[in-house]
Amino acid sequence: MFEKSDESIIQPAKAATLIAAAVIGVTLSGCAAGEDLNKIAGKAGIDFGTAVQAGDAYDPKTRDYIGKTFTMLVPENAMKWENIHPTKAFWNWSDMDAIVALAEEKGLDLRGHTFLWHQQNPPYVNALKGREEAVELLTEQINSVMTRYKGKIREYDVANEVLADNGRMRDTLWLRTIGPDYLDIAFRAARSADPDALLFLNDYSNEYAGTAKGDAFYRLAKELKERGVPLDGVGLQLHLMAEYGLNADALARNVARFRELGLKVAFTEVDVRIKLPVTPEKEEAQGKIFTELLRMAKTESGAGTYMLWGWRDSRSWIPGTFPGYGSAHPVDAKGKEKAFFGEFAKILKER
Ligand code: XIL
Repeated sequence: MFEKSDESIIQPAKAATLIAAAVIGVTLSGCAAGEDLNKIAGKAGIDFGTAVQAGDAYDPKTRDYIGKTFTMLVPENAMKWENIHPTKAFWNWSDMDAIVALAEEKGLDLRGHTFLWHQQNPPYVNALKGREEAVELLTEQINSVMTRYKGKIREYDVANEVLADNGRMRDTLWLRTIGPDYLDIAFRAARSADPDALLFLNDYSNEYAGTAKGDAFYRLAKELKERGVPLDGVGLQLHLMAEYGLNADALARNVARFRELGLKVAFTEVDVRIKLPVTPEKEEAQGKIFTELLRMAKTESGAGTYMLWGWRDSRSWIPGTFPGYGSAHPVDAKGKEKAFFGEFAKILKER
């Protein structure tokens, strides 16, 4: 309680400081009830995770935060071809090894991301021309990584973003060099490299049933399954925009139809970008999407895996990729959890 005093002019500032301190107190506890969020997620039986950057694995404070908050990690860039195998003769294992060691120390699960993609490939991959050479290199990449991390990485996005926005197969170096069976080749190579790892096909704008890309993605997954390609699950990236809200019904229908095919579904790269400037209304709309997605991941018929594509605005890929947008993550640029963050624990505890 604040007593009236002669300091009435500085009173509001004092009050603000006290309120801020109280808020930070809650923030640092990780969740309202004082129990770590990763424990709560574990009890709820859901993977609650985040993408991490290589530097995170070397920073003690960040390691600590990650260990208390999440149950699963995915490397944001460290496993991408240009990083882990930048020249034909050189494997740069150090960053991925550090992330794997972090996960082991904290008892977290891991997703691998990604082998077959049209971006972040080194020059010698982009220069590929012939089918035989491309198959050999792709197979070697998959084999080497999955053999090294056998038993340590639970699941992989074997292929990423293979569909164009109109739902046709994307025109990539893999389609051009290998041909339409490149997915079969990649998934088979992955299955034989580590038979226990779960193999995913991952994409964006594939979250809703009844859209051109969403339906094309479903058809592709179904075809792969039907022709015996070892596909275990699909990843819905879910890079969303606060201004559009969430079509929960179309998402639920989509999740349901994949599960009917016997596939797992993972929300793999959740972020919700805001058209700047940020206002409380926009942040509220953003919070609704983040929390509704977690609710949907948690139900028995839901995805079961909810991965943030980074948890903090201070290290976000969004401003560089979507000019005019930002503030896409649950922790703000000053390191403070946004208002809706507290909802995560509540949702995970709901029955
Ligand atoms: C992004 C990373 O976040 C950036 O740091 C990098 O510069 C480019 O890639 N879909 C994906 C991710 O599957 O791998 C992308 O990650 C974001 C979109």
